[in-house]
Amino acid sequence: MPALQNKKYFNYGGQGPLPTPSLKAITNSWQKIQELGPFTNDVWPYIANEIEATRKQLAKMCGVPKSRICLTENVTSGCILPLLGLPFSQGDRLLISDCEHPGVVSACQELARRQKLEIDILPVKQLRKGAIDKKNTELDLLKNLKCYLQEKTRLVVLSHILWNTGQIIPIAAVAETLVTHPQKPYLLVDAAQSFGQIPIQGDACNADIYAFTGHKWAYGPEGLGGIAISERVLKESKPTVIGWRSLKNEGHIQKLSADPFHLDSRRFEIATSCIPLLAGLRCSLDLLEGEGSDTDRLQRIEQLSAQLWEQLQDIKGVNTILEGPPPAGLVSFSIPQTKSTKGVVKMLGEQRLWIRDLEDPVCLRACVHVTSKANEITALVGAIKKIDIDENFS
Ligand SMILES: Cc1ncc(COP(=O)(O)O)c(C=O)c1O
Repeated sequence: MPALQNKKYFNYGGQGPLPTPSLKAITNSWQKIQELGPFTNDVWPYIANEIEATRKQLAKMCGVPKSRICLTENVTSGCILPLLGLPFSQGDRLLISDCEHPGVVSACQELARRQKLEIDILPVKQLRKGAIDKKNTELDLLKNLKCYLQEKTRLVVLSHILWNTGQIIPIAAVAETLVTHPQKPYLLVDAAQSFGQIPIQGDACNADIYAFTGHKWAYGPEGLGGIAISERVLKESKPTVIGWRSLKNEGHIQKLSADPFHLDSRRFEIATSCIPLLAGLRCSLDLLEGEGSDTDRLQRIEQLSAQLWEQLQDIKGVNTILEGPPPAGLVSFSIPQTKSTKGVVKMLGEQRLWIRDLEDPVCLRACVHVTSKANEITALVGAIKKIDIDENFS
């Protein structure tokens, strides 16, 4: 991976590095499209096969039929495209966790403004136990959820892994709770941090909208993601951003039809997008599989993140956000004495150690993945130790 050759990289949760074979798969596919097409009858079967193979692979990962996989370009559009078409009525309530990404939150706020809905905030930021006491974390979450659900709650928005604290949310258990609510609220899951990192099968199939991207933990190219959509959302949500790919039959669009859209997840696909990326993502997913099953990989990630989390405990002036070793690969921590987290990121970057800062809670985040090495963690910890005594930052 070219990106890993010249730096110590801890920003998998921002964007994963692209393996050279995936980059080659993209350029080969691009070349093939040029040779066969780009716009000829010869190229269409190739493109159809690329789409079919990708949808099939993603469906297998999510544990849903192919008809429930919609191809998108990123997590945010995956969350928003089906969300905007759901049948809300004035006064309905949206319950959004306090750890959601700004793009998704602002889309919900705008939806609420347009359709006169109310927003409630579900506190999850305080779930800090990490990998220890998973049962109690689940119980705390479900207790809170039951408290915050109201009679008119019609949608719950949660991330599968919280991007700031790194805590895993038990999505299947949340889904089980929601079916007992009289309104049966839709469950929208932001899977930006889970897809490619942890097993998702038992959760993705229970969410109504499970939106993911290939460009973070799956080592795929930027610009390609997907959604696993529930049967009821396919039936009940109307496409709002519409294009030729949403249509059952492009040729007869002049004849008015009550529902001209595909009945399956293609109803939320829009128009031309970058086909060569499909080969790149499939190649990265195959490489990931070559590293072991998703449970084996998570175990390796957990070992690495525990190593980082434990070493951070020993640094005076550094506080980990989670109270126990992380349940996955996101390790967030704060250095309360530093004037600026951005300054820390810059200083570490000058040493070719790349982490990121976050605003809520104010902290730093280092991610480890199956390609992380123990000596990289040691180097990061060594550099952080020095920050503590560097007068520029104290
Ligand atoms: C939890 C979460 N949601 C959404 C996003 C936005 O991702 P995208 O640019 O693929 O829409 C990110 C990106 O960091 C994220 O961490």
